[in-house]
Order: sequence, then structure tokens, then C-alpha cells
Amino acid sequence: MARNKITIVGAGNVGATTAHIAAAGHLGDIIMLDIVEGLAEGKALDIAEAAPVQLYEANIVGTRDWEKTADSDIVIITSGLPRKPGMSRDDLLAKNIQIVKDVSDKTAKYSPDSIVIVVCNPLDAMVYTAAKITGFAKNKVMGMAGALDCARFSYFLACELGVSVEDIKCVLMGGHGDDMVPLPRFTSVSGISITELLDEDKIAELIGRTRKGGIEVVNLLGYSAYYAPAAGTVKMAEAILKDKKAVLSCCAYCDSEYDVGGYFVGVPAELGRNGIEKIIELDLNESEQVQFQKSLAHVKQLVTKVDELL
Ligand SMILES: NC(=O)c1ccc[n+]([C@@H]2O[C@H](COP(=O)([O-])OP(=O)(O)OC[C@H]3O[C@@H](n4cnc5c(N)ncnc54)[C@H](O)[C@@H]3O)[C@@H](O)[C@H]2O)c1
Repeated sequence: MARNKITIVGAGNVGATTAHIAAAGHLGDIIMLDIVEGLAEGKALDIAEAAPVQLYEANIVGTRDWEKTADSDIVIITSGLPRKPGMSRDDLLAKNIQIVKDVSDKTAKYSPDSIVIVVCNPLDAMVYTAAKITGFAKNKVMGMAGALDCARFSYFLACELGVSVEDIKCVLMGGHGDDMVPLPRFTSVSGISITELLDEDKIAELIGRTRKGGIEVVNLLGYSAYYAPAAGTVKMAEAILKDKKAVLSCCAYCDSEYDVGGYFVGVPAELGRNGIEKIIELDLNESEQVQFQKSLAHVKQLVTKVDELL
């Protein structure tokens, strides 16, 4: 049986870490592509040289040549500037839109049947850009943010409650920004809603930390997070390549769903071999609706800027 072919565009922190986790998870052969001479080649060689220790069989290739990416099953776009202290994700828009535009063009040319997972920021706007430029079916273009934001919320909850991280199941909606919408009513410890286990103030405190989870790491490191973002990205790729029908929070195209009206935004969705196979529609209460609409309004503003710049 042929192995899956995974292209990772951008061999920086997120891209290279994604490649390593995907290789160690036996997801398929990996092509890492970057514009910086030697970078993708060097990181690919280093990851390949770990294979005899970690025991993975994948071919891992680094390149600057798009032809080597041809006919990929999945293209993961991590090429883009990351945040520095003092920056918001939105500050990256003008620069990253040009990169994502170029990369999306090439993705459509070399891997017209691929599924695209966008990682670079500002996430929801970059997913919209990739969908517009590739012209791919809407179920085949998506963004990774919810998997990361859920992981952060889950980690904080596990620490607070002193329970295993594997028992926490979290749902989070909205755009990938400070107005993201973690949903405590739908977040549980082995099925027990966290609203039964923690008081409102403590939940609000952990939601606040989740919303600022990205900048907390940026302020410590001086550059942006990559281990948890890469882990979230591989989780999505795995759900698709293994046709798992996994329900994950991710940035997906919604039209009538939640009355979004044709935008890419964070929602719980089922992921399988056809990409986004279903959007899960939750019965949001009034407060959750208000928060989601506020976050969606922000996404719409960014999309307007994208349309002006493209
Ligand atoms: N969605 C999320 O939750 C999330 C989390 C973390 C980071 N990010 C975003 O992911 C992106 C990458 O972050 P990073 O820390 O890996 O940055 P990085 O600077 O370490 O890596 C980016 C790489 O992209 C490459 N690149 C630039 N233009 C390119 C092009 N046209 N073709 C191919 N490669 C190109 C650069 O040479 C660089 O190696 C940033 O935009 C960051 O904000 C998103």
C-alpha cells in the first residue's frame, strides 16, 4: 500500500516540529519545503537521522523545489512570520497574506487533490486566503487553532483539578484570537461537565489564561510557541489520513451552520478522509451566542482586509 504523502510548507519551528511528530506517528512520507537555502534539507536530514532510534520508516525530504511536493495527500501551510512580544496575530496579516497567496497557488498547481491545513496567522484570515486562491472545495481547506486552544484549556484544567489530561474533552469555537470562545458547558472530565467541578470564577480565570495562552509563551521565549501547535496540527492530519471521523475544534467553512453566512471560523467538526465531513451544531445559550457572534465579527473584519489586499 502506498504511503501517504504529506507536504509541510515552512521548515521553521512549527513546520519542523510538525514533521518530527508526524514522522514519529507513522503518518506517511514527508516533504518539507522552505525558501531558505539548506533549512528544509537540514531539518529533514536531522529528523531522518532520528528514525533508527525512534523507529519510523518514512522518507523525509527537505527541498525548495515545489515539484517534489507533487500529488501530496495533505499540504500543511506553516510558512509565515510568527509573533514577537508586543504583537497581535492580526499584525501579521499584510506580510503573511502574500506568503499564503503564493504557497496556495503552488499547492493548487502541484497537489490539486490535496487537503490543506493552514497554520499561519492570523489563522482564520489565512484559511480564507488559501481557500480563495486554491479554489478547492470548502471541505478540503481548514485551519488549525481549536486543537491547540483546546489543548491549552485542557492542560490548565487538568492541572487545576489534578486529573489526567486524557480525561478532559473540550469544545471551543470562534476565531483564533483573544475573543475565542471556550465552552465550559461542553467541556468535561470523563463526561462530567467542568461546571460541576469548578466554580465560575475559577473557570473564568482558566478561560482567560487560555485566551492569552499564545502570548504567554511569546513573552517567555521572545518568539511563538511550536510544540503544542505542531501537536494540534498532526492530530488533524492524522484524523484525515486515517479517516478517523474525529470530532475536533477547527477552523472550517460554515454557511447556514450557526448562521455564519459563508466564513471560515472555529467550530466543532468531524474530520475524515474527505476533510471536514460534518460541522457539529451545538445548541448555544444566549451568552455563548453573543460571544461567538463577537468573535465572528472580528473574523469578518479580517476577511474584508484580505479582500482588499488580494
Ligand atoms: N494556528 C496556530 O495556532 C499557530 C500556532 C503557532 C504559530 N502559528 C503561526 O505559524 C506560522 C509559523 O510559525 P513558526 O514559529 O514556525 O515561524 P518560523 O519563522 O520559525 O517559520 C516560518 C518558516 O516559513 C518560511 N517561509 C516564509 N515564506 C515562505 C514561502 N513563501 N515558502 C516556503 N517557506 C516560507 C520561513 O523561511 C521560515 O522558515 C506563523 O505565522 C505563526 O504565527 C500559528
